[in-house]
Amino acid sequence: MKIEIEDKEFTCFLEYEQIRKRTRLLAIQMNVDYDNRLPVVIAVLNGSFLFMADLMKEVTIPVEVAFVKLASYHGGESTSGTVKKMIGLEIDLKGRDVIIVEDIVDTGITLSYLLEQVREQEPASVAVCTLLIKPDSLQKEFDEIAYVGFEIGNEFVVGYGLDYKGLGRNLKDIYQAIVVPSET
Ligand code: IMP
Repeated sequence: MKIEIEDKEFTCFLEYEQIRKRTRLLAIQMNVDYDNRLPVVIAVLNGSFLFMADLMKEVTIPVEVAFVKLASYHGGESTSGTVKKMIGLEIDLKGRDVIIVEDIVDTGITLSYLLEQVREQEPASVAVCTLLIKPDSLQKEFDEIAYVGFEIGNEFVVGYGLDYKGLGRNLKDIYQAIVVPSET
């Protein structure tokens, strides 16, 4: 099925049922890995809100959940353009086992900022769970990425939390942009 959002056309790529099944497997792995450890699971808003909800429904061990946002700062003393800062965390992470839940890791720049700021709080361990990863875009390797839903190509995707121009987050399935020849 094709859909249109603003100026782009998308085609269905991952159906909710596939996402749900894969999410269940990730949760089962987490239940084993974090048995008796009481991890803090931190979801990065907005993109991960649906994934986090489905993942947490399948996690059966005791966990604390938290939600953060990334605020972008421009200019200032930084010469490197935009700096992202994690805001909204109300749990002290010192000595805790932390699991960061992301919707998608593309270049990995956002994840680098997050890891840096989580590490400042001296947690006992940090792992990352991402629904999607674009291995061909990734600018560096992350040992922390322990749970991956799906490895995908570089095409832009939307739905199940992910947006295009602020739209499409509420779509149940994930759609991939149809690349028209003139764009290549
Ligand atoms: P990174 O810093 O390049 O890894 O990008 C991370 C952020 O870019 C994600 O959290 C998304 O908000 C956004 N992003 C990257 N690729 C896509 C995509 O295909 N669809 C929607 N958002 C994307």
